[in-house]
Formats: sequence, structure tokens, C-alpha cells
Amino acid sequence: MKFESFVANPLMQAPLAGYTDAGFRYLCCKYGCGLVVTEMVSAMSLKQKNRVAFDLLKGRMPKNSVSKVAVQLFGHDPEVFAEVVRYDEIQKFDVIDINMGCPVHKVVKNGDGSALMLDLPLASKVISQTVKHSKKPVTVKFRKGFTENNVNAPEFAKMCFESGASAVTVHGRTREQMYTGQADMETVRSVVEAAGNPVYANGDIKSKEDADRVKQYTGAFGIAIGRGAVGKPYIYADILGVPFEKNLYDDICTHYDVLLEFLPEKVVACEMKKHLAVYLKGLRGVKNVMNEIFTRNSADDQLRLVKDFLKNV
Ligand SMILES: Cc1cc2nc3c(=O)[nH]c(=O)nc-3n(C[C@H](O)[C@H](O)[C@H](O)COP(=O)(O)O)c2cc1C
Repeated sequence: MKFESFVANPLMQAPLAGYTDAGFRYLCCKYGCGLVVTEMVSAMSLKQKNRVAFDLLKGRMPKNSVSKVAVQLFGHDPEVFAEVVRYDEIQKFDVIDINMGCPVHKVVKNGDGSALMLDLPLASKVISQTVKHSKKPVTVKFRKGFTENNVNAPEFAKMCFESGASAVTVHGRTREQMYTGQADMETVRSVVEAAGNPVYANGDIKSKEDADRVKQYTGAFGIAIGRGAVGKPYIYADILGVPFEKNLYDDICTHYDVLLEFLPEKVVACEMKKHLAVYLKGLRGVKNVMNEIFTRNSADDQLRLVKDFLKNV
């Protein structure tokens, strides 16, 4: 089946380490996002049976959800990918996404993430081994290039498709830019021209208007939204033009509930602090309530504060 028909719609929630946890993914699905992605998970850590890495694979979807769920793996050893993609915990996902765009020094220095944009033969082996040993579609996420002098996204995309990838996501920044400057949609457009679809355009898409403009300009099949969905997962319903009721408190409760199903309460309370700061951002008096929330390490205490705060805004 063509990837374009495999997903219910061309919207993807781009992976964000520390944010796209199971609770957040659940909400993106609730609001109709076609493809949600886990935080990046180290293939080597899975091979070494690291419990925290396996925790990142947990979670559930809303009943009758049409969304597909991808697990994102990072690493650089084709044999490690060949082994871990066969695990039941990986094969339960609908899609396997490979991270070839992470710019962080400690990842790149190991030859992982965007370092693979400098070694196309190795990147190709990682993809082809993953495809060979997985029953699920394999996608690849990468950047415009490593540096401004080495913009190779079109060539890289061609390599991905030739190695068996079903779709690619292109973030229009180089590794050198990290997250600064503007995402360059011209490069995404040249990827679509050179390699064809399905391509997801990524970078700085924060509204329905941005999404429509980027799709039109690049000719990309889909768009992937990262930071623009944090704190407002309903952005997907907005872009799809599906009517939705916004109930911030209910969504926050759902986020807690999904995480509490498999993580200790202390961990959930700690993780939720950063999410609450974004859910409540911009509301009058948020600073005071966040100061209070930061002192609480129980989910019930935090939720009580959120409820009282929202009653009065
Ligand atoms: C806090 C943070 C964590 C990220 N984690 C990942 C990750 O785990 N895997 C990945 O491929 N990209 C990751 N990214 C990159 C995003 O997926 C995305 O490519 C980038 O933020 C640009 O899109 P945006 O402007 O819509 O956020 C991360 C970005 C941020 C800001």
C-alpha cells in the first residue's frame, strides 16, 4: 500500500525528546493527527535492555483512533537496527522512523543523528537493514544538510527511497544551525522535485495558515509539526477543519492518566511540570501558579492547583 494511503491524513507530529511522551501523543491522536512519533529512542540502549529506553515505547491510543504511531530510533550500526527492529515492542508500532537529523553534540559525536548525513553509504545500510528486518514501513527524518556548505537533502532523500524508505521528513535547517534562523522551505521544495513524494515538510509550522502555505510552496505530501503543537495538540483538528471542543483541564487530566498507567507518580509529576508550563502559557497569573506547581510532587496536588487556577481565568 502506498504510504500516502496508509496514513489517514498528511499531518505528522514531529518527535520532540522530552515532550512527545505517551500522554501528548494520545492527545495529538484525539485531535486527528495522522501520524504521531515517540521521542527518539537509542537502538543500542534497546539492545542493552535499558529499562528507561523500553519505557519510552509504552503508551496507548484513544479507542477507534485512525492515527498511526511511529517509533523513532537513533543509532548508526546497521546490525543493531537489524536486531532491535525485530523486537515485539518495536513491531507493535505502525511505522519505524530513523533519526538522521539530531544535531546534539553527544549524539553526533557517536556517529548518530545528523552525523549520518555525512556518510550516505552507512546511512543507506542502516535503512536497508531496518527495512529488511521489519514488517512495518520505515521512514527517515533528516535535515537540510550538515552545514550550509554541504546542503545534501535532495541527494539524501533519493538515497533513503532507494534504500527502501516509505517516506521522509525534512527539517529545513542544517545541523550547524541547530534550531536558530528560519527553516528553509526552498530546500524542502528541491527535495520533492529531486526525490518525489512522500515527503513531510518540517520547521516553524505553527498554524493552519503556515501549514497551507508550506504545502502549497513545497509540493510536499505532508507537514510535520514539532514545537507548534506543544501545549496545543488541537492544532491538528484546526488544520484538518474538524470541529472540536477545547477543554484544557480535561486534556491535562488525560495527559496525566495516560502516563500514570505505566510510570510512577513521582516521575509523572516531575514530567508534567514542563508540560503544564506550556499548557498554561499566556494565561493571567500563570507565573504564581507555576511557582506553586513546581513545589508539588504529587499528581493530585498539581491537578488541584490547575483546576482552581483555570476556574478563575
Ligand atoms: C526539545 C526538542 C526535542 C527534539 N527531539 C527530537 C527527536 O527526538 N527526534 C527528532 O527527529 N527530532 C527532534 N527534534 C526536532 C523536531 O522534531 C523538529 O524537527 C524541529 O523542532 C523543527 O520543527 P518545529 O519548528 O515544528 O519544532 C527536537 C526538537 C526540539 C526543540
